[in-house]
Amino acid sequence: MVEGKISPIHGWAAMKAEGPVEPWSYVPRPLGPNDVEIQIQFCGICGSDLHTIDSGWGPTTYPAIVGHEIIGKVITKGEKVSNLDIGQTVGVGAQVFACLQKDCKACSIDMDPHCPKGVFTYNAKYSDGENAQGGYAEAVRVDANYVIPIPSNIEPQYAASLMCAGVTVFTPMIHNGVKKGDRVGVVGIGGLGHLALQYARALGCEVTAFSSSDNKKEECFKLGATRFINIKKEDDLAKAEKSLDHLFITSNARSNDYTQFSRWMDLRGKICLLALPENKIELNPGSLILGSVYFGGSLIGGINDLKSALEFASKHNIKPVIEKLPMEKVNEGIQRVRDGKVRYRVVLEN
Ligand SMILES: NC(=O)c1ccc[n+]([C@@H]2O[C@H](COP(=O)([O-])OP(=O)(O)OC[C@H]3O[C@@H](n4cnc5c(N)ncnc54)[C@H](OP(=O)(O)O)[C@@H]3O)[C@@H](O)[C@H]2O)c1
Ligand SMILES: [Zn+2]
Ligand SMILES: [Zn+2]
Repeated sequence: MVEGKISPIHGWAAMKAEGPVEPWSYVPRPLGPNDVEIQIQFCGICGSDLHTIDSGWGPTTYPAIVGHEIIGKVITKGEKVSNLDIGQTVGVGAQVFACLQKDCKACSIDMDPHCPKGVFTYNAKYSDGENAQGGYAEAVRVDANYVIPIPSNIEPQYAASLMCAGVTVFTPMIHNGVKKGDRVGVVGIGGLGHLALQYARALGCEVTAFSSSDNKKEECFKLGATRFINIKKEDDLAKAEKSLDHLFITSNARSNDYTQFSRWMDLRGKICLLALPENKIELNPGSLILGSVYFGGSLIGGINDLKSALEFASKHNIKPVIEKLPMEKVNEGIQRVRDGKVRYRVVLEN
């Protein structure tokens, strides 16, 4: 670990849509009194990184260093930061700033990802006009409120994927009232999905994995699924009819038929969209109304959700399945995600 500041910060940046990431460096913003600089040890590759590299959600500001499942050690802190120590192992997720004021509707109810002044970890601008840059890099400088201590029984490389994928699936489970005995479905068993199986099982649910990949079946059972349904097989799908209380959609396959999801829900079942497809989705409204089914979505999780997701993982031994790669092989990792080959999260290591 180095102590002090790293400048310029070397990283791997997307330069144009769908291109490879390339070595690039930037001079970070001045370290403010509430800021922390972290020397990055690990960073997961999230599906959102690819949407951003590709300008899939609208034009990305290039060069863009993506990556928001960051784990590292505190190497410098501003004079007002008292709750973090130099050398401490910490994580940063998909958000690096919010106002956290009582008169902010979102912040006052622990929904800080929706703060109007919020800044995401990459492809976002700070109020001073600087671009936020993410975790495919040697270091990152962020607001101390978004620097989360990692429980000591979670090894750093396994903590990375909890910072986005983990909190994103756990938060709506808690806020949508998922409880022991509920029948929970998870569509798409990737980075988010394989953690959703584990969190739902640890909450005491009956868990169905809906996947397009038959070769994930055995692993799904090990991860906590009690039933596996191949989303491409009609006779398999018939078994899903009215069989769920909650459904979490983490697959953004273009061919997903959203109307079929409502058919899987029992009365007043809740569907929660977590994947953010680049295209519009089609959904027959009658399919919701005739079963009194709710359809909604959820955005990452706030600071307190992050702490809860880590604490719950630490208590229930929730552990991402990862493929570690050296940071220099980041393009290989991205390609493995594009090809759907990853089991279940690539974690880059410096
Ligand atoms: N709501 C939020 O705040 C939030 C936070 C993080 C990520 N996300 C979004 O959630 C989605 C999933 O992220 P992730 O990191 O879990 O991705 P991932 O690791 O690539 O997993 C996606 C899974 O979806 C299924 N899939 C089937 N066809 C696909 C296709 N054509 N393209 C992509 N996936 C396909 C695959 O599972 P099977 O083989 O089992 O079918 C795949 O493993 C992304 O859209 C991401 O942007 C949203
Ligand atoms: Zn993410
Ligand atoms: Zn706010």
